[in-house]
Amino acid sequence: MDPRLYSWFSSMFTAFCFMLKLACKCEICHAYLTSSWTKEFDNLCDWFTHLLEKSATGTIHIHVLGNTITANPENVEHILKTRFENYPKGKPFAAILGDLLGKGIFNVDGDSWKFQRKMASLELGSISIRRHGFDIVSSEIQSRLLPLLSSVSGKQQVLDLQDVFRRFSFDNICKFSFGLDPGCLELSLPVSEFAEAFDLASRLSAQRGRASSPLIWKLKRLLNLGTEKQLKQAIKLVDELAQKMINQRREKGFSDRNDLLSRFMGTINDDKYLRDIVVSFLLAGRDTVASGLTSFFWLLSQHPEVESAIREELERVVRSSDGRQQIASYDQMRDMHYLHAALCESLRLFPPIQFDSKFALEDDILPDCTFVRKGTRVTYHPYAMGRMERVWGPDCLEYKPGRWLKDGRYVPENPFKYPVFQAGQRVCLGKEMALVEMKCVVLAIISRFNIRVPNPKQTPRFAPGLTANVRGGLPVLVQEKAIVS
Ligand code: HEM
Repeated sequence: MDPRLYSWFSSMFTAFCFMLKLACKCEICHAYLTSSWTKEFDNLCDWFTHLLEKSATGTIHIHVLGNTITANPENVEHILKTRFENYPKGKPFAAILGDLLGKGIFNVDGDSWKFQRKMASLELGSISIRRHGFDIVSSEIQSRLLPLLSSVSGKQQVLDLQDVFRRFSFDNICKFSFGLDPGCLELSLPVSEFAEAFDLASRLSAQRGRASSPLIWKLKRLLNLGTEKQLKQAIKLVDELAQKMINQRREKGFSDRNDLLSRFMGTINDDKYLRDIVVSFLLAGRDTVASGLTSFFWLLSQHPEVESAIREELERVVRSSDGRQQIASYDQMRDMHYLHAALCESLRLFPPIQFDSKFALEDDILPDCTFVRKGTRVTYHPYAMGRMERVWGPDCLEYKPGRWLKDGRYVPENPFKYPVFQAGQRVCLGKEMALVEMKCVVLAIISRFNIRVPNPKQTPRFAPGLTANVRGGLPVLVQEKAIVS
């Protein structure tokens, strides 16, 4: 790049940030712009939690981002349900993720969203498809996850469990969405071009959302500079590989297939639209599940009593005598209330999607009397909500699966108090499937292996991205249990 252009661009950027700092004198914005919050907090989400806890209404404003952030369940219900029509994803969000997600379900409102939601609900809501998902997951566990863990067992070889779960969930979501297997969790842990390009593209797209002004990344995109250049290249690769998958699916035939792509192919001829739909599903189902499993095993390493309780429940439900049950049946899993509670509780403290934003179409007033000007970004924050005393009580920071149980049975919470899967009209469509996938993995691993986290007290530091990923992953040591005869 021409050095003069670079220097012009840098000075524009510096001048712009300086103007913003001058324009907003509030302490929070100053701390955001100068990153001074990092002196006290490891993660941005922890700093926001602290600010939200201190706020009398549970709502704060980051003026320089034009963002109103709330952890107030009544506000969340208002945004996601009562005044749903006033809080679409909006054009700014569509612009940030548009290059990667196109017109996929995550990135659209209105008729296009309604159409995809209807099709996807039919697909994900049917019992036969859920069982199909269960079969895919069970086979990935038996043929890849367990052999991989066995291969490192007892060897003092550190394994990054987060990486394993990301590979695992990528294989599953690709098989489920395209009917094709990328084989990321093969024993050799191969590098997948597709997974890598997809990761880079989601990370760099998320980075756009953190810029103080969209002008910055839009200008970089126009000039094809730095991270925008990298993003363009990564998306190009995602496009090529997605196209290859669409072509393969077409060649193999799709009329009698169960996967999502085949279903949509029956009604849609436009390959770009098919690509967009499928990419949204990859994003939805890959990192979320991996992130949920990673934090679950981190919490489990500090709570052996929870692991014992899950094992007891498994033995009671499956009534197997050989002590090596690997996977409970789909129906048996429904009776495992404690396991369900343990997962919900872990997702409360570590939601894979830590915050989610909408844009107000018209002026509005939230139930806590916060005024929202038309065009404002309004964010609800599941991560902060899970850690608020006023929402979950004085023991809010403790990992206690029992809070979800009454007489041993799981009792669901108000979804607006626990919007981990969002809530209202756009509630996650893959919730049941995700929980079944996570349960299968937990049962398979804890009934056969001891997982030791060498450094369990180290609190997670999250890498910036669309989904919560822990920097440095989750290094563990694996030991296969002795067979009980
Ligand atoms: C622990 C795992 C998961 C969590 C925590 C989760 C959470 C969420 C959240 C918060 C949203 C709203 C996002 C937004 O609108 O910006 C969402 C939407 C969605 N999720 Fe999930 N999800 C998970 C797994 C899955 C899986 C496995 C699938 C698919 C197989 C899936 C499919 C979807 C779809 C299609 C939407 C879009 C719904 C719409 O816009 O109408 N999710 N999910």
